[in-house]
Amino acid sequence: MNTEKPELLLRELITCSIVLEKMISDLYFELYEKTRDPDIKLLFRVIGLESKRHSEILEETAVTYGLKQERVDCRKHLGELFVVVESVLNQLREKSELTLKDLETILGKNCILENFVGEETYHRILLPLLVDMVPDASESLVRIMNKIVRDEEFHEEALKYIISRIRTSQ
Ligand SMILES: [Fe+2]
Ligand SMILES: [Fe+2]
Repeated sequence: MNTEKPELLLRELITCSIVLEKMISDLYFELYEKTRDPDIKLLFRVIGLESKRHSEILEETAVTYGLKQERVDCRKHLGELFVVVESVLNQLREKSELTLKDLETILGKNCILENFVGEETYHRILLPLLVDMVPDASESLVRIMNKIVRDEEFHEEALKYIISRIRTSQ
């Protein structure tokens, strides 16, 4: 493994990905707690658990490769993505229960799929680029990042399924 100091940008990107995955897991746990439909709830729980795991996996990876950076302004780095996730999270925390209409707004218009690059797309694109930026990236690192990318594909499919279910049941 290369012990030279990696570029600052690489450290900032991976540090903000850890932060983003944690926010995303909090967001899905809020959705899980406040949704009634048991089938949709289960998917929110699974996406929340996987996002939490992503945050932990990226943290382990960052520590192993010496890529953790202190005091990064992730709001500045992630821009609109950070702002939207934070605002949705705040809206969710104020609600005690979510109707299907609320869910459609949150998933469809505000947040994840339409007119906006969500966390899933962001990480699907970013993580392979991060691997290319790591000096002497190991085969294990490539496999770990590919695993997260596959999970993100699953999250996108699950969200599309949830939205279509909500729209057909209204
Ligand atoms: Fe993720
Ligand atoms: Fe995700």
